[in-house]
Amino acid sequence: MTKTLFSTLLSLAVASTTLLAQSQEQLLLSGWRFQNGAVAGAEAADFNDNGWQQVTIPHDWAISGPFDKDIDKQVVRIEQNGEKEATEKTGRSGCLPWIGEGWYRTRFTIPAGYAFAELVFDGAMAEPHVYVDGKDVGYWAYGYNTFKLEIPAESGEHTLAVHLQNIEESSRWYPGAGLYRPVRLLLGQEIGLKTWGTFARTTMVSYISPDYRTAREARLTVSSEVRGDIAKGQKLRLGHILSNEAGETVAEHWMDVNDSKMATNVLVVRNPKLWSPEQPALYTLTTRVTEGDKIWDEQSQKVGIRQIEYNEEGFKLNGELRKFRGVCLHHDMGPVGSAFNKSAFRRQVALLKEIGCDAIRTSHNMPAPWQMDICDEMGMMVMAESMDMWVYPKCKNGYSRFFEQVDETSPNRTGEPWWKRDFTNLVLVHRNHPSIVMWSIGNEIPEQNNATGYRYTHLLQQVIHELDGTRPCTQGMDRGEGPMHSGVWQTTDIPGFNYRLHVYQKGIENSPKGIVLGSETASTISSRGIYKFPAEEVHGIAYDDGQISSYDLESCIWSNIPDDDWMWQDKCPQVIGEFVWTGFDYLGEPTPYDEYWPSRSSYFGIFDLAGLPKDRAFLYRVHWAPEQETLHLLPHWTWPGREGEVTPVFCYTNYPEAELFVNGKSQGRIKKYDVSLETYLSHRVSEPMPWGGSSMFADPKTPYGENRLDRYRLRWMDVKYEPGELKVVAYDAQGNKAAEQVIRTAGRPHHIELSLDAAATDTKLSVTPVDVDGNTLDTPQLAFVTARVVDKDGNLCPDADVQLNFAVNGKPQRGIKAAKGEFVARYNSACNGDATSIETFTEPTMKAFHGECVVVVEAGTLLGDATLTVSARGLKPGKMNFSVR
Ligand code: GAL
Repeated sequence: MTKTLFSTLLSLAVASTTLLAQSQEQLLLSGWRFQNGAVAGAEAADFNDNGWQQVTIPHDWAISGPFDKDIDKQVVRIEQNGEKEATEKTGRSGCLPWIGEGWYRTRFTIPAGYAFAELVFDGAMAEPHVYVDGKDVGYWAYGYNTFKLEIPAESGEHTLAVHLQNIEESSRWYPGAGLYRPVRLLLGQEIGLKTWGTFARTTMVSYISPDYRTAREARLTVSSEVRGDIAKGQKLRLGHILSNEAGETVAEHWMDVNDSKMATNVLVVRNPKLWSPEQPALYTLTTRVTEGDKIWDEQSQKVGIRQIEYNEEGFKLNGELRKFRGVCLHHDMGPVGSAFNKSAFRRQVALLKEIGCDAIRTSHNMPAPWQMDICDEMGMMVMAESMDMWVYPKCKNGYSRFFEQVDETSPNRTGEPWWKRDFTNLVLVHRNHPSIVMWSIGNEIPEQNNATGYRYTHLLQQVIHELDGTRPCTQGMDRGEGPMHSGVWQTTDIPGFNYRLHVYQKGIENSPKGIVLGSETASTISSRGIYKFPAEEVHGIAYDDGQISSYDLESCIWSNIPDDDWMWQDKCPQVIGEFVWTGFDYLGEPTPYDEYWPSRSSYFGIFDLAGLPKDRAFLYRVHWAPEQETLHLLPHWTWPGREGEVTPVFCYTNYPEAELFVNGKSQGRIKKYDVSLETYLSHRVSEPMPWGGSSMFADPKTPYGENRLDRYRLRWMDVKYEPGELKVVAYDAQGNKAAEQVIRTAGRPHHIELSLDAAATDTKLSVTPVDVDGNTLDTPQLAFVTARVVDKDGNLCPDADVQLNFAVNGKPQRGIKAAKGEFVARYNSACNGDATSIETFTEPTMKAFHGECVVVVEAGTLLGDATLTVSARGLKPGKMNFSVR
């Protein structure tokens, strides 16, 4: 988020003062060479890397596959799944070749006139050792954290070499591999602003009475730290200037830099625009350090003004109570992999916002700074998480290897254990993002039940609160009443339950503020387009085909369906919201198919791995965005061979009542029932848990009208299938006909239809920006195109699994000649959302899965036009034209 201005901009802004600072930030994205495997001497300045692969970063060396069963094959007992014995597992971390060593090398230049240089890595997977001109300059253990390394500011060209290693059984999901986030070079003078030394926080908002909705005044308190040797008597001033979207200064304040090299200004902003998911207003904060008329340094960054409160009433944003409608996200972006791409993440946020989601939990690790910029811009609240384990390992070689370890050899050692360094960076790097509303100190930490957990809960929160006193900490706990006995629950600012609905009441009673967060909810599983009969609620079922039914009634033995969470969320004010496991399917953790090959990605997503909505997306939309019209029928209506068989039909709608017709024959008009929490709780059955004790689940035999399913879904359970037309007519609360939807039995596949998904508005792509030397300045823009196999009338063929082929042809604008490696647009990857597919994402061919597949087109650095063609044998191809400008 921090952007150091180039001298030209600086001289415009402060034309009357002496220009001294020429601080710069260079994004080191292009010109890298990569080699997979161990290479002796690759750190040396004169090492010849000519034969290595040329890459731009962010880069994920494993995403192109191939998928292989033997990668990360483990004989383990998954404790979180309650397993008693170790068995052979495949696919836990995605079956992609992420394990092993890798080297990256590039060159960078430090121009003359700088006295300070620092390299910033936003994250490197994993265990990066960094060398400049052959010299070891530093190391970081955790692959997910941002870290900085000061290097000598010698002018001239330098080599940068990074060694990475990923060891087996170090992750419970696909971690990706490589320099998957940007690397930056920061340059400055001997005195300057300390990197991550600025902290801007809203310390007061007053509202206009009587509605208390419009803010009258706000205070943004901003502190900054100065680095460098300040001589005795040297008088430095620190200024903070806040400007609005139009570039007008709305507040400015200056202070002398004190003995601890800090200054704090309080900026008073009249009629501030407050940041919220609905109106993500941002300001630009410029920080300047001066001495007389000399400017030593200047940085600018986006900040937001917003107020958060957590008290016995619940969570308030800008004075208004609201509940988190959140999702957990792993960092991979399906076919794009873990290499951070702004448009892929923007698409995820847009799709989530479309269903009313307002928050993300960065499970279970530190987010990328660019990711947080996008959450600020697009309006998504964030629970910024840190780690999946502390002292006790959850997988053999996980982060527990480092947690208490003190690095004693690297040049950047500090003498502190890794946990302290990791939490410090998490907060310093991210604390200016208005989107972040809480920190998570951990996920399902095994020691939550004992004194070690208690001790670290204290310590971690203390470290965080010292650096940021404005946000509370949470952690996701899964051991029922266990953490209440150890005191971990009572010690956590905002205790969170992962599942465990049956102990919510106890949790509320023991919570420090009397509130509880659904830090992880649901873990409902489904495969897009698959329906199993009968449509029954079941826990932990697995089928022969490696798929799960999309009636949204299936979950794991430890988890539940959305309706259960909503009973608590809707009926209990002390439950402050939820983070669903997960927003999107992710690579790895193919529960319940950990032993099934090929199955290599999850089934938990509201959206599948390709980003296509499963039926559940509509169910969540009804609940999270009730003001939007939603009318969604399931299953599809093409069931050759099921004629006359009972084929239940569900409708997910915000309307209270609807009538269903099969070929014009009414199947009944039914309505939702408001089931109370007491009724719901009275219909539970106890099920023993594999790890001991028992859990309470809703009794699937609960009658209509008392069943919580009837509060959230309309279900016609006795419909007999006959081909033709399925129609639903919805009625509003006054009984007026409000909307209708029709789906039809599909005929033979006929052609391919292409469409942009809900996240994109048109087929204009932005050319990837480069500087005068041709260095890439941003991640390439991607377009996500859904290819659908349809019959002659345009009905989706829900069983089509034809082989699709993709081609992107680009034509540069007249007069532009493509140099080697330059292009207008190209094929990037494809994904069909099938968790059992082992077709490589980056090959330009893939089967449709239940009639659909998403194709990703990547913009290059040249202006021009491009066409995507999706073809399949015997079908009329689909074409989409793009302009790259
Ligand atoms: C939770 C865990 C997640 C994921 C999920 C699957 O216990 O925190 O990382 O494993 O279960 O249901």
